[in-house]
Amino acid sequence: MSQDSSPKPPAVHRVLSGIQPTGRFHWGNYFGAIRQYIDLQNSGESYYFIANLHALTTIRESERLRQLTLDAALDLLALGLDPNRATLFVQSDVPEVSELCWLLMTGTPIGLLERCHAYKDKKAKGLTADAGLFTYPVLMAADILAYDANTVPVGEDQVQHIEVARDIAASFNHHFGETFVMPKAKIVASAARVPGIDGEKMSKSYNNTLEIFEDVKAQRKKIMRIVTDSRPVEQPKEPEGDHLFDLFSLFANAEDRETMAALYRRGGFGYGEVKKALADKAEAYFAEARAKRAELAGNPAKVQEILADGASRARKKAGEVLARAKRNCGLT
Ligand code: ADP
Ligand code: TRP
Repeated sequence: MSQDSSPKPPAVHRVLSGIQPTGRFHWGNYFGAIRQYIDLQNSGESYYFIANLHALTTIRESERLRQLTLDAALDLLALGLDPNRATLFVQSDVPEVSELCWLLMTGTPIGLLERCHAYKDKKAKGLTADAGLFTYPVLMAADILAYDANTVPVGEDQVQHIEVARDIAASFNHHFGETFVMPKAKIVASAARVPGIDGEKMSKSYNNTLEIFEDVKAQRKKIMRIVTDSRPVEQPKEPEGDHLFDLFSLFANAEDRETMAALYRRGGFGYGEVKKALADKAEAYFAEARAKRAELAGNPAKVQEILADGASRARKKAGEVLARAKRNCGLT
């Protein structure tokens, strides 16, 4: 094996994450994932992609997938992802990742994939899964390993997949010599689980979401429908563990949060007032992003240019790692 086939220790710290364009982004996506991406673009090299290959395992309507992919790019840029700092691209624009996926697949134990929750949950419901859903974590491992990523910011539900990526990387390294950098997940604990309007985890699958860029009026109506208990106005309430309070806290600074908590504990107010305060705070919080999104939506050529530039930078890095992996396992 030639000297240059082992990876150099990373001189820079690389952050990478992907998000599926399977629906319009909601507050859970923002506070659980997107906000972290954006914060981390200032530390080292960062790669963020729109995981349309993963989305293809659930979205089978071509026009819808195309539109949601563009929406995702607009949303991320509007929310502050800066293409001059971070590399933003669409997953399928980097074919090197799909090729790497096969290399990884050859050494991935079936048992490892059988334990992964997306597949396990579907099977438990008695539904049949496609090979795409079953091997989803291997493609995710390829996504991560192709860029020598050190840190992968994700929501809590994706931690298992990062563990799988680490197992796959360790096994490849063990067989073929040091090839891949070991990635680590990074979760933000304070907003690890954003509740939906029914108090369950906010998720597009539960139809309980508040979308980041939905029509302001429609959103207000939805907020007013947030499920609460029926305790009378006078009665003091405990804010901790109350999902309406948790949602309010997402947008509040420490002082506003304390004031609201005191109001809860004192009693003598209705949940309607909290909902109104929440709607006002959310609207103000996303106002700037909303304006930026409208501006970008009017200039689709610019967005396409950003994505094309991102893809070409991403391909350069993924190409290097793929060449290293192919050499180490004997394909070249
Ligand atoms: P959904 O559950 O709506 O299908 P995704 O699975 O596409 O959302 O999640 C995309 C990203 O957003 C993931 O990193 C996930 O962990 C994060 N995320 C989704 N919902 C929440 C939530 N309610 N709270 C915190 N993070 C979330
Ligand atoms: N599976 C992730 C999700 O549903 C999206 C994703 C695909 C991803 N590839 C990735 C996240 C690589 C981090 C790193 O949220």
